[in-house]
Amino acid sequence: MITKVSNHSEDAASLTERARNVLPGGITRSTVYVPPHPPYAATGSGALVQDVSGHVLVDCNNNYTSLIHGHSSRQEIVEAAVSATRSGTAFGLPTRHEVDFAEYLAARTGVEKWRFCNSGTEAVLMMLRAARAFTQRDTIIRFAGSYHGTGDEVVDPKAAGVPKWVEESVLVVPQGDLDALKDALREHGNRVAAVLIDLMPNRAGLNPATREFVQELRALTRRYGVLLAIDEVISFRLSWGGFHQHYGVEPDLISTGKIIGGGFPVGAVGGKAGFLREFDPARAGAVMWGGTFSANPVTMVAGLTALRLFDQDAISALNAKGESMRGDLEAAGVRVNGFGSLLRIMTSDTKALWWSLYERGVLAGSNGLLALSTAMNDKHLSHVIEAVAEGARNVGDTGTPEQ
Ligand SMILES: Cc1ncc(COP(=O)(O)O)c(C=O)c1O
Repeated sequence: MITKVSNHSEDAASLTERARNVLPGGITRSTVYVPPHPPYAATGSGALVQDVSGHVLVDCNNNYTSLIHGHSSRQEIVEAAVSATRSGTAFGLPTRHEVDFAEYLAARTGVEKWRFCNSGTEAVLMMLRAARAFTQRDTIIRFAGSYHGTGDEVVDPKAAGVPKWVEESVLVVPQGDLDALKDALREHGNRVAAVLIDLMPNRAGLNPATREFVQELRALTRRYGVLLAIDEVISFRLSWGGFHQHYGVEPDLISTGKIIGGGFPVGAVGGKAGFLREFDPARAGAVMWGGTFSANPVTMVAGLTALRLFDQDAISALNAKGESMRGDLEAAGVRVNGFGSLLRIMTSDTKALWWSLYERGVLAGSNGLLALSTAMNDKHLSHVIEAVAEGARNVGDTGTPEQ
């Protein structure tokens, strides 16, 4: 199945050299950087991706979890996007497509109101701003090691280029530490706008939060008048209306993205009407939110079509495949974290693991993340299990896993 198909006109070495001349570090997304330089993708089809050297891989990266149906595998999505492209890709007016999509999301999630943007990063930042505007408080609590994009409030406050005020207005609590969370709220609760949480943070190890922790978090935020802002940019795929439903908690605000764009750039903020009112431009003092390409028709129709195809049966089937793969890998001695269709191979050498998997025809995330898609068949899944078991063994697994 995994065979060399064809050579493309320009090889990776030449592209890398050209890239290093015009792109800092030779790359546009630091998140896809794998030293010394990642290979270049040429084409994708269903569960497979081919690089410019003609090397074919089962795509378990799926553009960092966003391609829930793989590459152009569902004609319905392709046709919806092509048809929207033919009718005009962006307007300085709203279109009915954003109304259709927001209605669908509201019905699917039970979250009343929605706003669209073009990335998860943007969604998280606007969600936090809405929380600040609503509560008239400045401080955000978040959890150490979780990734929420690259906005000031959610990166390391000491990182280069981050303004000093960030350190004063963001409290970082250890992952899953209820006592530390209680202490932070006891001491600072009356100035905290929101607690921001990813219920299964990839960079922090892809361990799902415990039910007890999440339920206690919900109760604590209510007690202190703090909004619960759940970042579902990755985890939305795990349950019908978002992963929070698995925990039986109701968020005040939710950010999502990735799979809801059907393969196109997207982000979204959802929330109860009372909170999302902050964005209503007819209100005095509304939170300003533009976005030239926000809610563009191509993303809206592709996203709506992709989600309709990812119904409860598809979610359950994909999650079951993930659980089965996790079981097989664990039986083969591989350390695997995650839940449902998201897995992470835990290793002390993510770079070596990545290349080891690449050589064996599997494209993973740069930290060992595997995201299954509905385009994968049994042959693809068996290939991944075999390649990962062998690849992980080849790398060895000593020391503390990288986060
Ligand atoms: C949980 C989470 N939040 C936010 C983001 C940022 O999303 P984007 O890359 O679309 O800006 C990501 C990206 O991986 C994410 O995993």
